Amino acid sequence: MRWSERQRTMLAAMGITLWAPRSAPEADAPAGDPAMHEATRGPARGPTHGPTHAARREPQPVRRPPAAATTSSADAHAPVRPESVTDRDARAREIGLLEWPALRERVASCRACRLCEGRRHTVFGVGNPQAHWMIVGEAPGEQEDRLGEPFVGPAGELLDRMLQALGLTRGEAGPQHQVFIANTLKCRPPRNRNPEPDELALCGAFLHRQIELVNPRLILAMGRFAVQALLESSEPIGRLRGRVHRYRGRPVVVTYHPAYLLRSPAEKARSWADLCLAASQLSTPA
Ligand code: URA
Repeated sequence: MRWSERQRTMLAAMGITLWAPRSAPEADAPAGDPAMHEATRGPARGPTHGPTHAARREPQPVRRPPAAATTSSADAHAPVRPESVTDRDARAREIGLLEWPALRERVASCRACRLCEGRRHTVFGVGNPQAHWMIVGEAPGEQEDRLGEPFVGPAGELLDRMLQALGLTRGEAGPQHQVFIANTLKCRPPRNRNPEPDELALCGAFLHRQIELVNPRLILAMGRFAVQALLESSEPIGRLRGRVHRYRGRPVVVTYHPAYLLRSPAEKARSWADLCLAASQLSTPA
């Protein structure tokens, strides 16, 4: 595999060091290190080649992040509305019928769980509403809550570099190159604690509808809460990564959350292998 200077720079930015025997500086990485071997399988073919995306339901023009949805002062004093399981099913069915504008509004005004009480902004998601790649993370943190956009803190910077290494972006581009990023939770849990099961269940209705509307060709599930929401599995990432799962028929590749990669940089090579697996799905006919 020959890496362009640009790709080398990208991989270096992700923290992945490419190396090769001195005598063959451009050769493939050695087979001795499976993670690095995987990590050096070319990235770019998948997302840019492959069959044309199928016709989609009512494409939406909105590509920029939503105007940050601040809770209005009236909403801020509205009570949390606890729901019975029957209510929840009815609510999920109703959310499952919403189109983009109504879905955004529904998220912005949501008071279904306690997380509404501490939020500054809901974090709907960002990207191309017809994206081929959909990235699912966990929940907004402090900066995301402040700005109303997902993955804008340090983990987001790493995510952006990972996307860039694949020729992808959250910025303005066509559906092959511009991803859609969403979280399992649309509100920040206090002190960034883990999402609770009832929060995941309630907010899941929004994520499921987003996935239906985007209709991505590939979902990248980052971290264990994304996995729980999409695959209903509590197996560790290490046991789920490296193969292709399905969410309502769509391929799902599981990988480590970027925040975990910041704490455990040695796992970045595995994460890169996961990204390459994901890219390969887009070049493989369904
Ligand atoms: N981590 C996530 O999973 N999502 C964000 O939006 C920010 C950090």
